[in-house]
Amino acid sequence: MGLLCVLTLTALASNWQKLAEDGLHDPTNPALKLLQDPTESLSVLPPDSTGNKVDWIRALQNGDIKPRSNILEQLEDEILDLDVLIMAAGSAPIVRFPHKAHTEWLDCSNCHEHLFKSKAGATQFTMLDILQGEYCGTCHGAVSFPLTECNRCHSVDPDEANRIQREMATAKAEADDKQ
Ligand code: HEC
Ligand code: HEC
Ligand code: HEC
Repeated sequence: MGLLCVLTLTALASNWQKLAEDGLHDPTNPALKLLQDPTESLSVLPPDSTGNKVDWIRALQNGDIKPRSNILEQLEDEILDLDVLIMAAGSAPIVRFPHKAHTEWLDCSNCHEHLFKSKAGATQFTMLDILQGEYCGTCHGAVSFPLTECNRCHSVDPDEANRIQREMATAKAEADDKQ
C-alpha cells in the first residue's frame, strides 16, 4: 500500500503544472492565455525522468527544436566535438565533459574563459562549488538537468578512465618524440 502511494505520487509529480498555478506567473494577468501551458508544449517532446521532463539533447538531435546559440545573427554556431575528463578527488566516478552536447546550443563565450580556462585541469573547483551554483552549477540545477543526476556527469568508470589516460599519455609521448 505504502509503495503504491509512492508510485502514484511519482506519477503525479511527472505532470506539468499549469502556468496559472505554478506560483511564478500572475494568474490575474489577461496575457497569460497567450502563453502555451507546459502540458501542451512540452508533452510532444522526447520525455526525460527528471528536471522539466524533457530530454533536450534528443529533442535537438531529432530536430524537434531548433534553438539559436546566440543573439547575433551573423555569428555561425561553432560545434566542438571534444570530450574532456575531469578528475575528481576521492571516490566519485570520473566526470566526462562533452563539448559537443554543449556547443550545439552554447557559444564558447558562455564558459570560456570566465567559468573554465580552455586548458584541461587548469581550473580548480569542487562539487561543493557546483552545488552552490558555480562552474557546472551555473546551468545544471538551474536551466539544465538537475545535480541529483550524479551519473550523467560522473559517467566514466575507473577501467575506462585508465584506458583513456593511457591513450592520452601515449599520444603525448609520441608528440614529444617528434619535437
Ligand atoms: C553537472 C555535472 C555534475 C553532477 C550532476 C554531479 N557532479 Fe560531482 N563533480 C562534477 C565535477 C566536474 C567534479 C570535479 C571537481 C574536481 O575537479 O574535483 C565533481 C566532483 C565530485 C566529487 C569529488 C570531491 C569534491 O567534492 O569535489 C564528488 C564526491 C562528487 N562530485 C559527487 C557527486 C554526487 C554524489 C552527485 C549527485 C548527487 C554529483 N557529484 C553530481 C560534476 C557533477
Ligand atoms: C558549457 C561550457 C563550455 C562551453 C560552451 C565550451 N567549453 Fe571548452 N571547456 C569547458 C570545460 C569544463 C573544459 C575543461 C576545463 C578543465 O578541465 O579545467 C573545457 C576545455 C576546453 C579546452 C581545453 C581542452 C584540453 O584538452 O586541454 C579547449 C581548447 C576548449 N575548451 C575550447 C572550447 C571552444 C573552442 C568552445 C566553443 C566552440 C568551447 N570550448 C565551449 C567548458 C566549455
Ligand atoms: C552555460 C551552461 C552550462 C554549463 C556551465 C555546463 N553545462 Fe552541461 N549542459 C548544459 C545544457 C544546456 C545541456 C543540454 C540540456 C540538458 O541536458 O539539460 C547540458 C548537458 C550536459 C550533459 C549531457 C550530455 C548528453 O549527451 O546527454 C552533460 C554530461 C553535462 N552537461 C555535463 C556538464 C559538466 C560536467 C559541466 C561542468 C564541467 C557542465 N555540464 C557545465 C549547459 C551547461
